[in-house]
Amino acid sequence: MHYPLRAILRRNKAGKTASINSDRLPAHIAIVMDGNGRWAKRRGLPRTAGHQAGMEALKRVVRAAAELGIKVLTVYAFSTENWRRPQNEVEFLMRLPSEYLKTELAELKSKNIQLRLAGELEELPPHTREAVKKALSETAANTGMILNFALNYGSRAELVQAVRKIAAMVAEGRIKPDDIEEKTVESFLYTAGLPDPDLFIRPGGETRLSNFLLWQSAYSELWFPKIYWPDFNRHHLLEAIATYQNRDRRYGGIRL
Ligand code: IPE
Ligand code: IPE
Ligand code: MG
Repeated sequence: MHYPLRAILRRNKAGKTASINSDRLPAHIAIVMDGNGRWAKRRGLPRTAGHQAGMEALKRVVRAAAELGIKVLTVYAFSTENWRRPQNEVEFLMRLPSEYLKTELAELKSKNIQLRLAGELEELPPHTREAVKKALSETAANTGMILNFALNYGSRAELVQAVRKIAAMVAEGRIKPDDIEEKTVESFLYTAGLPDPDLFIRPGGETRLSNFLLWQSAYSELWFPKIYWPDFNRHHLLEAIATYQNRDRRYGGIRL
């Protein structure tokens, strides 16, 4: 279901309206949902309150992206390095997917959104794994926006598992080393079949990739808004798209 853009083009706090061209939307937007802890700290709240507020931001942004007609939205929810955090924080974070799905799965289904997972499912605690598996299977036939959850995701781990699978095929004599092309590698990434992200957004103040989509973001346009993720709303999404539409993507070539 696509709503007219006018309906979501409202004025932001500064009174400015981001004007975007609906014919040149990024097909794939990737977001590092960062800054939850600092958002909470600034308010004198525990870090977990920041994660809870971050989940509300996710609900808003999923709605806005689907209404806009974005084809793929990938959100970085938990990295392979985030296991290093204190146990209580990890446990809290591992409860969020099922909490999110408990309230949102019906809406995802009604909006024809397909859920995908980027990351190692089998390493997740059973309750998280089961909730995710159920949502994956219940939305598998949906043909609308793809909501790609990067959960227990690390780009290097993703590349290592891809290399292992390709090496096994070579060892079994199914392909020759010379047959390995970029598309071979891509077919073993969690994002197989998806377009590369056009727009890569990281709120929170850090201007680094933190092991997110290193291969896929080779030519993504990067945008680092100076806000924490829990404050992110549809206006920021529109601003990101407007910024993206003003970029000159050359892919190594030159504009003639
Ligand atoms: C992002 O917020 C959520 C996860 C990494 C799971 P952070 O928890 O990293 O928040 P900051 O960066 O400490 O503010
Ligand atoms: C990246 O944020 C991971 C997620 C938002 C899920 P981090 O907070 O883990 O990244 P660093 O540690 O600042 O690089
Ligand atoms: Mg962080």
